[in-house]
Amino acid sequence: MTTTPTSHLGSLLDEETVRAYDRAHVFHSWSAQELIDPLPIASASGSYFTDYQGKRYLDFSSQLVNANIGYQHPKLVAAIIEQAGRLCTIQPAFANDVRSEAAHLIAELAPGDLNRVFFTNGGAEATENAIRMARLHTGRHKVLAAYRSYHGATAGAISLTGEPRRWPSEPGLPGIIHYWGPYPYRSAFHSADETEECARALQHLRDLIAVEGAHTVAALIFETVVGTNGILVPPDGYLAGVRAICDEFGIVMIADEVMAGFGRCGEWFAVDRWGVVPDLICFAKGVNSGYVPLGGVILSDAIAATFAQRPYPGGLTYSGHPLACGSAVASINIFKEEGIVEHARHLGADVIGPGLADLAERHPSVGEVRGLGVFWAL
Ligand SMILES: Cc1ncc(COP(=O)(O)O)c(C=O)c1O
Repeated sequence: MTTTPTSHLGSLLDEETVRAYDRAHVFHSWSAQELIDPLPIASASGSYFTDYQGKRYLDFSSQLVNANIGYQHPKLVAAIIEQAGRLCTIQPAFANDVRSEAAHLIAELAPGDLNRVFFTNGGAEATENAIRMARLHTGRHKVLAAYRSYHGATAGAISLTGEPRRWPSEPGLPGIIHYWGPYPYRSAFHSADETEECARALQHLRDLIAVEGAHTVAALIFETVVGTNGILVPPDGYLAGVRAICDEFGIVMIADEVMAGFGRCGEWFAVDRWGVVPDLICFAKGVNSGYVPLGGVILSDAIAATFAQRPYPGGLTYSGHPLACGSAVASINIFKEEGIVEHARHLGADVIGPGLADLAERHPSVGEVRGLGVFWAL
């Protein structure tokens, strides 16, 4: 029961009411509810968002590293409005024009024979389904995942996650084995340089697979460029080495590109930088800049074939949602028209990289600068 203001669109509430309702009724992610005071945001445009006092903020983190195209891109907004007018929802068992087109465009962009897309609502559902696919494809149950990783907050995805966000959800999914990925700056392998780090990180994977039993290992999952655990760019040769190990032992190679994909690293998919083709790619975020929730798994022909005559035991009410898929089609077309991937690469190589290197030179407190495209850490 309330006698306080209401509106047809929440955005018409005044700042005080937005804050009051938020404090009274919204349960926020990752937070002690009484210790936070979320800033009400009134609007956003391009690279900026604006509060109710008219103060503009340059969004250096692109929301949760997902607004790759910026806020309120007029063509993307128009595409969503058009799709809403045509068809807001249709369940996954039917074929639908924008779902077909989004899958076609994504398959065209994906490397190698990754030709089929299973759509989800976001990144965690993508990693959940990727490990389900790998387990059923191989008939094995273990999954290797990096300590320095985040793969989402649902039960399986948080079990994959290597860092402390996992702890409160334990015990998690059985059969997840964590490994150390390469990180020359704070090497777990006492390496002297990148070449040694690469070799030792690959040997560590081999050792782990040997003692776990290769015949029990379904998949190896990794963030192509590690995101929230520090923007860790793999040394040249590492991903090719992982590919070779996966091939040798029949292990499914899963690239989690939820954060690193769709232009963030100056490539459509970050694996493209190293010319490596995984068996499954997880995507979300940048695919449509989060204008409507969307994620998915792109499957190789071999893994898709496992489910050619046998049902895939997974699904989601909103898999391939038309508003989300319509926005993905529009967003991919805008990326192409405006050269957004090339622009991200240029910003990394010619603006952000040199600018941060200059800062590092002038400030002894900066230990390292690393990154690529528009994905950087100091
Ligand atoms: C690499 C990676 N995988 C998965 C996820 C989970 O995505 P979502 O929050 O859409 O479930 C994230 C989110 O930040 C991520 O960075």
